[in-house]
Amino acid sequence: MGGSELRARRVVRLAAGMSTVVLVASCSSLRGLADQRDIALGTAVDNQALAQEDDYRQVLANEFNLVVPENVMKWDTTEPVRGQFNFAPGDELVGFAEAHDMAVKGTALAWWFQNPPWLETGQFSRDEAIDILRNHIHTLVGHYRGRVAEWDVVNEPLDLGGDDYRDNPWLRAIGPDYIDLAFQFAHEADPDAELFLNDFDGPLPGPKSQRLVDMAIDLKDRGVPITGLGMQFHVFPGITSIDFDAIAEDMRQLDDAGLEYAITEWDMGLPLPASPADLEHQAELAGGLMTTCLQAPNCDTFVVWGFTDRHSWIPGAIPGYGAATISDEQLDPKPAWTAILEALRAEG
Ligand code: XIL
Repeated sequence: MGGSELRARRVVRLAAGMSTVVLVASCSSLRGLADQRDIALGTAVDNQALAQEDDYRQVLANEFNLVVPENVMKWDTTEPVRGQFNFAPGDELVGFAEAHDMAVKGTALAWWFQNPPWLETGQFSRDEAIDILRNHIHTLVGHYRGRVAEWDVVNEPLDLGGDDYRDNPWLRAIGPDYIDLAFQFAHEADPDAELFLNDFDGPLPGPKSQRLVDMAIDLKDRGVPITGLGMQFHVFPGITSIDFDAIAEDMRQLDDAGLEYAITEWDMGLPLPASPADLEHQAELAGGLMTTCLQAPNCDTFVVWGFTDRHSWIPGAIPGYGAATISDEQLDPKPAWTAILEALRAEG
C-alpha cells in the first residue's frame, strides 16, 4: 500500500456507511476487521524476531496491515557513520511487508534519541547541520520512495512537560526551524508520503498535547507539508490518565485544520506480575482508544508498540513493569486484543 492507496482508503471509509457493519460481523482477525473499517492497524516490528521466529511472522502477517520498524530506520542504524547508509534491515522489513501486502510507516527522521555518536557529539554550524539533515532525509526517504507510506518526521520535539523544545542535535545547531526543514526535506524526497509530528504526553490529553495540536496546526497554516499529529500512548496505570472525550476534541481541532490524528505507539506497562484487574483495565483503555479513533473522521492509523509480551521494550526500559502488549509470550490474545477486536467489530 502506498500513500495514494492510504488516501483512497480514507475516501472509501467515508463512503462505506452501513455496508461496513454487515461485512465486519463475520470477520475474526484484527487485520480483516481493520481492512473493512479502513483502519491502518500497525505494530512495531522487532527485526530479530522477524528473522528468527515463524510464529511471530505468522501472527504479524495475519493480524496487521501496517508495520513500523521498532529500531531499524532510526539514525544509529541508517547512518552509523557520516555519509554511509545502511538500509539492509529496513529493506528486510519492507520486503516482508510487500510480500504480505502490508503498508509501512517509518520512524524517525529527527529525534533526540538513538543517534550515532558522530551526530550526538559533533559540533556543527547551522549550515552544516542543515546539510546533514537534508542529506539523511533525502537519502533515506528517497530510498523508500513509494514504499514507505508514512513517516514520523520529527519525534518528541517537546520536553517532558511540553513547556519548551526538547534538546537534540538539530535544536542545538539549527534552532527550532529544524522542524520545518525536516518536513520540507521529507516532502521533497517523497511528495506522496504522509508526514507526521510525533510525541507523547503523560495525561492524555493534557497541556502538552494541546501544545502539540497547536504546533501541528501552526505548521499546516504556514504551509509546511504536514499530514498530521501522532500521539504515542505509552500508558502506565496510576501515572497516565486518559480522557477519551478530550482526545476526541483534539482530533476535532486537527480535523478542522485538515490534519490527521494517528495513534502511533500504544502499549500499557503493568506492574509485574500483572493482576487480572490491571489486564482488564488495559483492555478497557485499548478498546476505548480504538473506538475513539473509529469515531473520528481523521483517525485511521492505530499502531501498537509490539504485539507480543515476548518482545516488548517495556521490561527493559521500566524495571518491574511489563505485560504491556495485546498478546502474551505465547502470542495468545490477551483481553486488550479482544477489546480492540470488539471495538473494530462494533457498529460505527
Ligand atoms: C524504543 C524501542 O522500542 C526500543 O527497542 C529502543 O531500545 C528504544 O526505542 N518512543 C519512540 C520509540 O518514539 O521509537 C521508542 O522505541 C519508544 C518510545
